[in-house]
Amino acid sequence: AGLHTLAKAAGKLYFGTATDNPELTDTAYAAKLNDSKEFGQITPGNSMKWDATEPTRGTFTFSGGDQIANLAKANGQLLRGHNCVWYNQLPSWVSDGTFTAADLTTVIQNHCGTLVGHYKGQIYSWDVINEPFNDDGTWRQDIFYNTLNTTYVPIALKAARAADPNAKLYINDYNIENTGAKATAMLNLVKELIADGVPIDGVGFQCHFIVGEVSTSLQTVMEQFTALGLEVAITELDIRMTLPETEALLAQQQKDYQSVVQACMNVEGCVGITIWDWTDKYSWVPSTFSGQGAACPWDENFAIKPAYNGIVAAL
Ligand code: XIL
Repeated sequence: AGLHTLAKAAGKLYFGTATDNPELTDTAYAAKLNDSKEFGQITPGNSMKWDATEPTRGTFTFSGGDQIANLAKANGQLLRGHNCVWYNQLPSWVSDGTFTAADLTTVIQNHCGTLVGHYKGQIYSWDVINEPFNDDGTWRQDIFYNTLNTTYVPIALKAARAADPNAKLYINDYNIENTGAKATAMLNLVKELIADGVPIDGVGFQCHFIVGEVSTSLQTVMEQFTALGLEVAITELDIRMTLPETEALLAQQQKDYQSVVQACMNVEGCVGITIWDWTDKYSWVPSTFSGQGAACPWDENFAIKPAYNGIVAAL
């Protein structure tokens, strides 16, 4: 039936995937990506990031992002915007810049406002803030925090809301999928934002997992956020293994995909699941985690793996 069709029938908004512009020239890849029975939502893996969209101050380039947005429109797929403010993949004028607090505030307002405004009406949800915390729950000491302390978060969220009042505004992070210091830090942040009347609609759980080590408290953590009236989503799911892949690892990966997807299914306020690309051919894992890979539900030749059946079993 297709993963999105199954997810919709089970009451979710979407099942989707990340994609990236260079992959779109692969016609067999594109044919699958365009199948809205399988994927009812897409996320650009790179082309809406700061280095891609505002490489020099005040000069915006939307060609890559537009290509993905137009594809989503043509396919009838929802679009997640990714992302406005992140310490990584920043142009050097931001990362190496020296800014007063007032100047960086203007920079963030202009970046988020222009980016979100450009896609107004086309985006289901925006990762306005990406990866604000260290794993121990302290704030990441990046240019934003070091210049503006925690105020950069409301500054970005307010600019995004003003630019597209109908987009759901998210904070997205990894290693918040288990109870612990980082999840608690995120919970405290969103509680404070809500108390202060700052626009915030959702929290994204990236879910970049390792076979045999997926979260066992994902449902519990998600429910702590939905109890505050927020929605949640699985935004970047993949489950990697140390290569070479074996039948045993693929069988464990199937169970792991099933349990992660099941956690979202069990939480009413979990609106959807996005895998961080659907095929091992274009996964970010091998180039980032040396010796690891095979993290996606389809293999490099676009054949489904046991993991696919694990997802189907949960949907
Ligand atoms: C990754 C992309 O998939 C890669 O192509 C790129 O080289 C690095 O970034 N968390 C995120 C994503 O929020 O933006 C990252 O995407 C993966 C980790």
